[in-house]
Amino acid sequence: MTKEFLMIKVGLILGIAGACRTDELVNLTVDDIEDVGSSLITKIPRIFVVTDVGNMLELFRKYLSLRPPHVKHKRLFLYYKAGKCSSQPVGKNTMGKIPSVVASYLKLPDVACYTGHCLRRSSATLLADAGVDITTIKRHAGWKSTTVAEGYVENSIENKTKIANQVLVGTTTSAITKTVNVSESNIPCNINFENCTNKCNI
Ligand SMILES: *[C@@H]1O[C@H](CO)[C@@H](O)[C@H](O)[C@H]1NC(C)=O
Ligand SMILES: *[C@@H]1O[C@H](CO)[C@@H](O)[C@H](O)[C@H]1NC(C)=O
Ligand SMILES: *[C@@H]1O[C@H](CO)[C@@H](O)[C@H](O)[C@H]1NC(C)=O
Ligand SMILES: *[C@@H]1O[C@H](CO)[C@@H](O)[C@H](O)[C@H]1NC(C)=O
Repeated sequence: MTKEFLMIKVGLILGIAGACRTDELVNLTVDDIEDVGSSLITKIPRIFVVTDVGNMLELFRKYLSLRPPHVKHKRLFLYYKAGKCSSQPVGKNTMGKIPSVVASYLKLPDVACYTGHCLRRSSATLLADAGVDITTIKRHAGWKSTTVAEGYVENSIENKTKIANQVLVGTTTSAITKTVNVSESNIPCNINFENCTNKCNI
C-alpha cells in the first residue's frame, strides 16, 4: 500500500490492535494515545498497545506530524490527501469504509461486505486463532459479558504487548486471512486482515 493510504493505514493499525468500533476510532483524540517510544499505549476506548513491528510506529508518528498546527479540536483522525492532513476530522462514514478500501486494495471479492465492524471482528478472530483464551479476547474487545470479578483483573501492559503482537502480526492458521503490507520503507510490515466475505450477513 502506498503513501496515499496513510490515514487508512493508521486506522487499520489502531482498529485491529484495539478491536475498535468505527465510532471509537472517530472519537479518538491525540490525548488518548501515549507514545512511550517502544510502543503506543491507549487508555480509551480501552487499554491497548501497539508495538513497533515493521514501521507501524513510524507510520503513526508521520501521520501525527502532518497535523496542521492551527487545528482547534483534538480528534486524532484528520482527512489526508496528497501528503497533507486537513484540519477536518474524519467522520463515521469515511472511517467505516476503511475495511472496504483495504479489501479493494487486496482485490478481495465482495468489497461492500467489509463494513466498519470488520476491524473489530478481525482482531478477535486473529486472537482466537493464536490460541488465546476467551476471557482475554473478551477483555481485549471490551465485551461486557465477562464476570464482574474478571473485570477487576487489571491486565498488565506486558500482557497487552503480547496481545498486540499476536493480533497485528501473529501467524494465523484457520482464519481466512490476507496480509496487507502497510510499510512505506523497505522494512516489510504485514498486517493480517480477515476475509470478511464469508460472514457477509452478520
Ligand atoms: C463518540 O462521540 C459521539 C459524539 O460526541 C457520541 O455520541 C458517541 O457516543 C461517542 N462514541 C463512543 C464509542 O465513545
Ligand atoms: C497475563 O496473562 C496471563 C495468561 O493469560 C495471566 O495468567 C496473568 O494473570 C496476566 N497478568 C496480568 C497482570 O493480568
Ligand atoms: C512492503 O512495501 C514496501 C514499500 O512499498 C516495500 O519496499 C517492501 O518490499 C514491501 N515488502 C513486502 C514483503 O512486500
Ligand atoms: C473469502 O471467503 C469467501 C467465502 O468463504 C471465498 O469464496 C473467497 O475465496 C475468500 N477469499 C480469499 C481471498 O480468501
